[in-house]
Amino acid sequence: MSFVEKSITDQLNRPLRDLRISVTDRCNLRCTYCMPAEIFGPDYPFLEKKELLSFEELERLARLFVQKFGVEKIRLTGGEPLMRKDMPQLVEMLARIEGLNDLAMTTNGTLLPIYAERLKKAGLNRVTISLDSLDDDRFKRINGRGVPIKKVLEGIEAARKAGLGVKINMVVQKGVNEEDILPMAHYFKEQGLILRFIEFMDVGNTNEWNRKAVLTKQEIIERIHKEMPITPIAPNYKGEVATRYSYTDGDGEIGVISSVSDAFCSTCNRARLSARGELFTCLFASSGHDLRKLIRSEKTEEEITEFISRIWKNRTDQYSVDRTLSKPVDKKKIEMSYIGG
Ligand code: GTP
Ligand code: 5AD
Ligand code: SF4
Ligand code: SF4
Repeated sequence: MSFVEKSITDQLNRPLRDLRISVTDRCNLRCTYCMPAEIFGPDYPFLEKKELLSFEELERLARLFVQKFGVEKIRLTGGEPLMRKDMPQLVEMLARIEGLNDLAMTTNGTLLPIYAERLKKAGLNRVTISLDSLDDDRFKRINGRGVPIKKVLEGIEAARKAGLGVKINMVVQKGVNEEDILPMAHYFKEQGLILRFIEFMDVGNTNEWNRKAVLTKQEIIERIHKEMPITPIAPNYKGEVATRYSYTDGDGEIGVISSVSDAFCSTCNRARLSARGELFTCLFASSGHDLRKLIRSEKTEEEITEFISRIWKNRTDQYSVDRTLSKPVDKKKIEMSYIGG
């Protein structure tokens, strides 16, 4: 296999290093900010199996991204990735790809008691588990399915026991779960796990996003600092999404993901593969590029590589920066459940 394309960069000089693969648009939860139950109801037209890329197709594409373009990190997302059958098998296929340094999954955690051990054995390195509240009533309301916190905590425990790396994601919404910031910080500090606070984002078209519902990075940091002093620390790698802070007592760290108040597009090295096999070059894009059609055609690997290469080289996306500058942006955006965040 040739390695000629490895240093590919886009119009803003950003390399391609990170591939996020959504393996399904389905989820067992209905978080109000992601898949509101009123819209994602029993009649919602979820993708059929044949519309999803098969494991073999996913492996072929992932291999190409790693070996032709230098992607080092793959993250499996959904919807909820563990709703797709036999995920440990896909993990095993991807973990074998030479040159891949990091294989992670973003999950709501509820199915980890069933899968954590098998995923670890198959070669998954780490999971990021979403949890928005430590108050049961609030969590049940937010997840739209009345699922108790216990289910997620059991998932966290199963992942730790299996030896997977674990981080926690909390989407913060003003007036919804802001009072959970401190309890969450306390709890996960004690647990020795990194908690990341995510500013509520205007992804998709269904979550009725409103800037007023965003608690900014600065506000989140101030609230924590008052009670548990923190200090900024350097990123683990260039282009890390979260800004890191460590507790000044030397025990633990948190992260804040500030897509709204402090855009990080200038180092964005992420490509996204949607559940139906389209390549998206931005989380907020309105359309993708159909790789499924290509991979199901007679096209050679070289032709597919050339197609992807051209897309990345032409890439100019910086949606969050444009939003900050109040530039007019395309209203129709891909739903989070197709692209996994
Ligand atoms: P690490 O590999 O542990 O650094 O995790 P990560 O931050 O890459 O992945 P994760 O899935 O935990 O993402 C955390 C949050 O950041 C999610 O809400 C994502 O939607 C958001 N996010 C990730 N990448 C981007 C991005 O390129 N742009 C924007 N706006 N948000 C992003
Ligand atoms: N704003 C911010 N984060 C979101 N996520 C889903 N929808 C949104 C949104 N509108 C988060 C999930 C998960 C991660 C992949 O993205 O909670 O942690
Ligand atoms: Fe499911 Fe995650 Fe979306 Fe919640 S945020 S509905 S758990 S995909
Ligand atoms: Fe990357 Fe788009 Fe997010 Fe900016 S808004 S960091 S370009 S995915």
